[in-house]
Amino acid sequence: MRRRHLALTGFSIALWFGGIGSALAAQEEPAPIEAAQSRGTADERAASMVTLMTLDEKLTLLEGYFGTDFPAARFEAPAEARYGSAGYVPGIPRLGIPPQWQADAGLGVATQGGAAEKRARTALPSGLATAATWDPALARAAGAMIGAEARADGFNVMLGGSVNLMREPRNGRNFEYAGEDPLLAGTMVGAQIAGVQSNRIISTVKHFAVNDQETNRNDGNAVVEEGALRMSDLLAFQLAIERGEPGAVMCSYNRVGGTHACENPFLLTEVLREHWHFPGYVLSDWGGVHSTAASANAGLDQESGYGLQRDGWFAADKLRAALAAGEISEERIDLMAARILRSMFVHGLIDDPVSEGQPIDFPAHRAVSRQAAEAGIVLLKNERGLLPLAASASRIAVIGGHADKGVLSGGGSSQVYPEGTNAVPGIEPTSWPGPVVYYPSSPLAALEALLPNAQFQFVDGADHEAAVRAAAWADVSIVFATQWASESIDVSLTLPDAQNELIESVALANRQTVVVLETGGPVLMPWADHVPAIVEAWYPGSAGGEAIANVLTGKVNPSGHLPATFPRSLDQLPYPDEPRKGDLVYDEGAAVGYKWFDLNGHEPQFPFGHGLSYTTFALGHLAVTPEGDGLAAMLEVTNTGDRAGADVVQIYVSGKGWDAPRRLAGFAKVELQPGERKRVTVHVDPRLLATWRANRPGWTLPSGVYEVSVGHSSRDLAETVSIELPGAFLPPDWRPKR
Ligand code: GLC
Repeated sequence: MRRRHLALTGFSIALWFGGIGSALAAQEEPAPIEAAQSRGTADERAASMVTLMTLDEKLTLLEGYFGTDFPAARFEAPAEARYGSAGYVPGIPRLGIPPQWQADAGLGVATQGGAAEKRARTALPSGLATAATWDPALARAAGAMIGAEARADGFNVMLGGSVNLMREPRNGRNFEYAGEDPLLAGTMVGAQIAGVQSNRIISTVKHFAVNDQETNRNDGNAVVEEGALRMSDLLAFQLAIERGEPGAVMCSYNRVGGTHACENPFLLTEVLREHWHFPGYVLSDWGGVHSTAASANAGLDQESGYGLQRDGWFAADKLRAALAAGEISEERIDLMAARILRSMFVHGLIDDPVSEGQPIDFPAHRAVSRQAAEAGIVLLKNERGLLPLAASASRIAVIGGHADKGVLSGGGSSQVYPEGTNAVPGIEPTSWPGPVVYYPSSPLAALEALLPNAQFQFVDGADHEAAVRAAAWADVSIVFATQWASESIDVSLTLPDAQNELIESVALANRQTVVVLETGGPVLMPWADHVPAIVEAWYPGSAGGEAIANVLTGKVNPSGHLPATFPRSLDQLPYPDEPRKGDLVYDEGAAVGYKWFDLNGHEPQFPFGHGLSYTTFALGHLAVTPEGDGLAAMLEVTNTGDRAGADVVQIYVSGKGWDAPRRLAGFAKVELQPGERKRVTVHVDPRLLATWRANRPGWTLPSGVYEVSVGHSSRDLAETVSIELPGAFLPPDWRPKR
């Protein structure tokens, strides 16, 4: 029999929003199964596969189940779901299409809180910590590690890639994200997504879009002027998608401009398809769907988490009814199924299927997590060279933060559970969004191992007088201050449990006091002027205790830089006494974080991009030339100190009529030996020089003079040069050549 595949290859495959529509429309007859498995492009294979599917089979791909029993809704997870997992989408064995086994999230293979047994897996440090490394190669390696664990556990979809901007420093999920700047966040999360997908599984990018706080997250309505939105939250997603090429985008719970994100044609069709030509599929957040036809026609391809809410909007009967009523077309159903299949083909789910129970190299993975934590720890202040701790330090008081037991992690769906047990069980809340988990990696134990000649005293910090006595006894006192943050709640910027008072008391008792913060994001530091050394260790992951000790003792030279502004006071924020309910009108537009501080002349406690080292660096010889429609900035960086270290060179640009005085436009992390000098070139994407105006969709670069600076933070600029640019207009779907 003449093989039908000629029919397939005989007609041109026009790419239409993911290359499916025309292919499907032009397909005359179903090709045999083997043709569908042919080595065509992913679009061709997906289009061909869809022609073989019955309607029921197509609908099967569009409805995802929660992967864990949920007694409150009398829901039992499908038997084929991986235990304690986020989600499961049945496969189609007849056609060789495997199930989609979905695992949270961006910090490692998580287990749902409701599962009795917890999978013990390697936890990366928080997303903020990885962003604080300013090292895309490291972020990629981190993603590759957690993706390897996901694959070994039989997951082929990892729900990571969290890139919501830090508009609200009290957002309980900031620890999962990558800070306040779209270039840094998009670059770092894109790299991590690529790392996860290097394991031949799908990663997502989430939560699309403007899900920038947890208060009222299911119904809060984010309102941002479109041009500002394009240059801030959407730019972070756009860069992450360009750099990471995720197989899927997860639309968020909240409303954007009055319409829920998962039924929002502006987000899911105009932005994602018409302007960004995203070829993958859109899945909802768990319980984030509010309609059948409106969602499907807006661009949602798959509902997630059926079982968590009463009934599924994309359950087969609902979709069939919408088809019968003419509310959804057959072509739309075909397109939804094909987009999912395309990603499954591209990312190896069909050709290289996963299988559960594969071995995991935990020691190697723990080292990856530790290196990420070390590189993301930010030395905020270090007077009198108090750090690194002198090898001669003989009496050291270690106070608070359960530092004798372990290090803190953030709560919610991203929670990775440790080998062994929670180092500090029983801290409330012990159920959703808890439990509060400390990884059994004790900073105290790690310090004792590195300073065998020192005497240590540990006090838990609850009794301030005992802490003061220990501090008075010691040469150096180290106070560990913690703040738990989690999905589904927002937090205060004030350290809880009287830790500010504890720090003040200890600092009074001992001038040589170091504060180590384990927080989910920025916190206020009323004591900052009273202590000589401050370290932000974030949630440092499975080996966080060793990472902290390695930095405090100088075994590792800190190289982290802040991905977010640390305010001096709440009244410096756009919404001092928020997080708000109802309409979240973001009047600051694209002036998020340091841009807001620069626009309003606020002096932060510590600025975006700030981070010290145990050595010093000099920047100079800045020269800038036009490069395509963008720029290239060349400069020299020199290690002027006496020990090796890594510097983060930051390029900021100022243009006329922008939303704020300057923007981060490029960066590079550079390793240097003592005395070593390197020439560095940073390439600036023209969109970072442009503005987006809703009345002229696209990127407008006015002709004129632009100021280009190089510095070590948004407030520490070493050199500035001007450059005249001719101006340009880039269409909405412009992207750099890769
Ligand atoms: C959660 C989160 C999302 C997560 C999903 C599955 O509610 O918002 O980030 O991937 O549900 O657990």
